Order: sequence, then C-alpha cells, then structure tokens
Amino acid sequence: MSEVPAAPSPLRLGVLASGNGSNFAALAEAIAGGELAAQIQVLIYNNPDAPVAQRAQQWQIPSVLLNHRHYPSRESFDAAIVETLKTYAVEWVVMAGWMRIVTPVLLSAYPQRIINLHPSLLPSFRGLHAVEQALAAGVKITGCTVHLVTEELDSGPILAQAAVPVLPDDTPATLHARIQVQEHRILKQAIAEIAAQQVQVSR
Ligand code: GAR
Repeated sequence: MSEVPAAPSPLRLGVLASGNGSNFAALAEAIAGGELAAQIQVLIYNNPDAPVAQRAQQWQIPSVLLNHRHYPSRESFDAAIVETLKTYAVEWVVMAGWMRIVTPVLLSAYPQRIINLHPSLLPSFRGLHAVEQALAAGVKITGCTVHLVTEELDSGPILAQAAVPVLPDDTPATLHARIQVQEHRILKQAIAEIAAQQVQVSR
C-alpha cells in the first residue's frame, strides 16, 4: 500500500493595510479560488474609515482596527500589532498598502517573514507618492515590487517585480490603476513562491 503524503497546511498570513484594500481582496479571492495555499488569519488596519475593513467582512476574514493615533510611539504601535498577529497565529506578514514605517519591534518578531508591496520598480522611487514621483521624473517605464521588509525603508531583498509603461497622457490615477493590475498578480506570485519554499524548507 503506497503512502499518501499529507497535504501541506496553508501558509498563515496576517495582512496589514491602510486604505482601499484591492490587494487584500485579490489575495482573498485567490485563496478562496484555491489558487494559493494560504489563509488570511487576520486583517489589521489603522484607519477607521478604510474600505479594506468592509472587504474583510465580505470575505468573512477577522479584522482588527489598531489606530496608530492612539499609541504614544511607533514601537508601542508595532508591539500591539505583534500581539495581534501572535493571537491569530500568523506566520507571515503581508503589508498590502500599509502606510506606516515599521520598527525593529515588528521586524524582530517576524524576521525575514514580512513582505511589502510598493508601487514602483525599486530601488527607484522609494517612500510616499511613488507613482507621482515616477511621473515627475519623466520615466517611460515604472511598475511595482514585492520585497522582504528590512529596517531601511523600501530596501529589502526583491521577491517579484513587474514593469508598467508610462503613457504620454497618464495621470497619477490612470498610471496607478495599471500598476495595481500588476500588483495583484505579483503579490499572489510572491506568496505562492513563499508557500512552496516553506513546504520544502521548514515545515
Ligand atoms: C498599492 O498600490 C501599494 O503598492 C501602495 O498602496 C496601494 C494600496 O492599494 N503601497 C505603498 O505605497 C506603500 N508605500 P490597495 O489598498 O488597493 O491594495
């Protein structure tokens, strides 16, 4: 009788998001459709009116509002995030439109296990307003990046990228919309690769 290998358990993700949540929704949809061997344990969001909270509700994913304005320091805010992530047994952290700078408090709780999505081809246009920065620089190609988070802003090892042409009549909104189509794809791709490696390496 041949042994049937046990199916790997899905990667337990915690998503951090500040705003609209189209990337969160793309992940939730891919997971529900069986495209990704992962599970979103919890959404943490920091802006009370962020539409991403409704998206979590639609997908019946637990969400926790942690409003950074109610914490005395970035470190105390990150400590609350870590506590929540641990409560929900999160293994990997996905910053999908997270507009806060992270501190060593979060980084040391999840070493090499935090990924960030950024709307430019890093190392170009780090920081805020990356789409506007690309338009102002007059580049003909920009794009998006998924990278591991390190202490230096938007600088960790790159896991996935996609290029997006800048069209002559682009506005920040039209360009960002085309970048987001690619973001939804490469974020899923990066997580699928992580899930595949985890099965081989450490589980
Ligand atoms: C995304 O375009 C992401 O790259 C960007 O925020 C957007 C969130 O979209 N992140 C950053 O700028 C981080 N510095 P979403 O809320 O629709 O997923």
